[in-house]
Amino acid sequence: MPESDTIDPRDVVGGGEAPIELEIGPGRGGFLFERLGVDPGIRMVGLEIKRKWASIVDGRLRSRGFGERARVFAEDARDALRRFVPGCVSVAYVHFPDPWWKKKHQKRLVLSGSLLPELARVIRPGGQLFVQTDVEERALAYEELLETSVAFHPAGPTARIAENPFQARSPREHRAIADGLPIHRLLYVRTAG
Ligand SMILES: C[S@@+](CC[C@H](N)C(=O)[O-])C[C@H]1O[C@@H](n2cnc3c(N)ncnc32)[C@H](O)[C@@H]1O
Repeated sequence: MPESDTIDPRDVVGGGEAPIELEIGPGRGGFLFERLGVDPGIRMVGLEIKRKWASIVDGRLRSRGFGERARVFAEDARDALRRFVPGCVSVAYVHFPDPWWKKKHQKRLVLSGSLLPELARVIRPGGQLFVQTDVEERALAYEELLETSVAFHPAGPTARIAENPFQARSPREHRAIADGLPIHRLLYVRTAG
């Protein structure tokens, strides 16, 4: 990512003032390609801690003609998000993060009490946070975490939704469906004000 203290990710994917979509931990990037394919108006940024995959996916975005509308940066989202300007994101996606649930792995968690205020800051009021996991314990932990935040409320009577409404799936989501694994999906809205 650019070196400056403050970054407006819209400056790197064009599209003017309109908020962009953010994927945390895109891995092999399948969701980005599917999502960019369904709507030519969308602009996206991915933050992927694994340099190798960030670089491969960023290159593929360019070679498949999406380079003007999307970038993936080799960054730890927990550090990078602090530099984003407020309200620059319309939807943040966190697909199948944190595939560990032992106590000793707590330090690695990406969706945690320290990331949440940053997500609240960068997602515009009325914007959305979509989380998917195949680990029921993690889904319960995310729900508990989100309940503590006044900045987000469930999109319906609860945050749980049966289907992914974004017309695009992540690689792990495709695999979970093929393997018949249950997928826990949570959708939250950034509270106005
Ligand atoms: C289990 S994989 C899921 C990949 C993809 N989202 C999917 O659903 O197919 C989790 C991904 O999150 C990335 N990741 C983990 N911690 C991260 C962090 N702090 N910042 C950015 N990416 C992170 C991992 O490198 C990995 O690509």
